[in-house]
Amino acid sequence: MARYLITSALPYINGIKHLGNLAGSMLPADIHARFRRLQGHEVLYICATDEHGTPAELAAAEAGQDVRAYCDAQYEIQRDACAGFKLSFDHFGRSSNPPNHKLTQAFCEALEKNALIEERVSKQIYSIDDGRFLPDRYVEGTCPHCGFERARGDQCDNCGTLLDPIELINPRSKISGSTNVEPRDTAHLFLKQPLMQDRIRAWVDQSTEWPPLARSIAYKWLDEGLIDRSITRDLSWGIKVTQNGQPRPGFENKVFYVWFDAPIEYIGSTVEWSQAGGGDWERWWRTDRGADDVTYVQFMGKDNVAFHTVSFPVTIMGSGEPWKLVDRLKAFNWVTWYGGKFSTSEKRGIFMDQALDLLPSDYWRWYLMANAPESADAAFTLEQFQQTVNADLANVFGNFVNRITRFCASKFEGVVPEGGAPGALEQKLETDLAARLKALTEFHEQMEFRKAAAELRAMWAAGNEYLQVAAPWTAFKTDVERAAVGVRVGLNLAALFAILAQPFIPDAAKTVLDAIGVPDQHRAWPKQIAGALDALPRGLAITPPDVLFKKIEDTDVAAWAERFGGG
Ligand code: 2FM
Ligand code: ZN
Repeated sequence: MARYLITSALPYINGIKHLGNLAGSMLPADIHARFRRLQGHEVLYICATDEHGTPAELAAAEAGQDVRAYCDAQYEIQRDACAGFKLSFDHFGRSSNPPNHKLTQAFCEALEKNALIEERVSKQIYSIDDGRFLPDRYVEGTCPHCGFERARGDQCDNCGTLLDPIELINPRSKISGSTNVEPRDTAHLFLKQPLMQDRIRAWVDQSTEWPPLARSIAYKWLDEGLIDRSITRDLSWGIKVTQNGQPRPGFENKVFYVWFDAPIEYIGSTVEWSQAGGGDWERWWRTDRGADDVTYVQFMGKDNVAFHTVSFPVTIMGSGEPWKLVDRLKAFNWVTWYGGKFSTSEKRGIFMDQALDLLPSDYWRWYLMANAPESADAAFTLEQFQQTVNADLANVFGNFVNRITRFCASKFEGVVPEGGAPGALEQKLETDLAARLKALTEFHEQMEFRKAAAELRAMWAAGNEYLQVAAPWTAFKTDVERAAVGVRVGLNLAALFAILAQPFIPDAAKTVLDAIGVPDQHRAWPKQIAGALDALPRGLAITPPDVLFKKIEDTDVAAWAERFGGG
């Protein structure tokens, strides 16, 4: 038994996330966490809301709410939506909670002791009409790289370049719209990343277990050369800057930059888990307290990779303290809405809360992971969603389970039949499934979600083919023993398929396993197929479940396209 620490990128607090956000971090992390638990490993799956920075302040202002009240309300909304999607966090914390404040301040002080922090005066945009500095998203203007006119101070959404507000052409205040702005001097703390460049590169070089997307992005940043990064901002909502545990002189109206404190919340949230009675957090994070044994896996969208492969490791390593570093980093491309962007304001795309109003979580979980944006961006379309759900879940898996359990109920008194002996057909099935189980397990271990889903689907299809040929309904008329074998194997297959489906579609899997009466201790990930086709006790009573997945009709697709914007 090994130990896995799993984190998914922390969702910004500024409103409920769309299906693309879900597919690129929290959902795959959940699937991996469930898979590792089923293998019998000790797993700690941690997430939290990312509550600081200008996204939170701007969204609160737009909602006409005080930022703390806004965050409190949004936290509950996001937590409930995550629960609705059956995300099995061990803890879902908040970056604004006290443990993160303490840790973030301590990291900064440790970095400063190691001469990796420098206080420096730099020019920032000051709005005369608003009477304040305009950090990050508080300012918009024209991108100096691509000419896009609505580039934000921290990043151009058109060309993706990370920006410093001072670089924007024709800057204007996002608060008042005023262009009456000027560069003014203000002191900030800078993290001297170049001093850590060689150590980071050496670490990436030896991190051979990272999937390729994350590695290539990390090298791109290293090749461009690391630069000093400002880790404070002229804002009031956030984590205060300290020196020797006291407010830092001259920084009374400043806080840490959200990207400095957000990844530290992975640790902070684990401390919250610990305080809530979860266990010893240091065992997971301090290599001097046993975390050397932990495999730490991170999940995130590709835009987050630089922060996790460069800036956060600079913080961790630069502290000189024995913190756990990431071992495997799984990054994702984007899920698009018909090739374009999801947007609440423009009524494009389905958001997490809306999805659950339409269909249970398993439908979405399956589709999103069967089409995970792993090698390239993946477009969500309602038509493909309908096609995938109807084909894989309703016709293949659902139909298999319903057919065999109903036939058992009607012809074998609803119990796993006794008689008959398996023959060549069952032998061939077992050989086929053994190879597929090996592949499925490996795909999960490598976090290749699309391939894992395809392999699972292929196992379900092999089950259907078996039933097609064994045809117990026909055999029953002439050879009851032969039919008994088909039904017994079929019921065992249904249980096996549900066990293997648990990471992807936990609710439907549970329904099937409950209906067949598989006890909890027999729901673990199988190491081999041998025995699996005759695992259920003969004579065990089963109850056919209700229809597992209803088909999505053309009329549903039309109505949703109207409501959420179709192709
Ligand atoms: O891009 C985002 O959505 C960020 N809120 C992710 C933060 S991940 C971690 F570092 F906190
Ligand atoms: Zn641009």
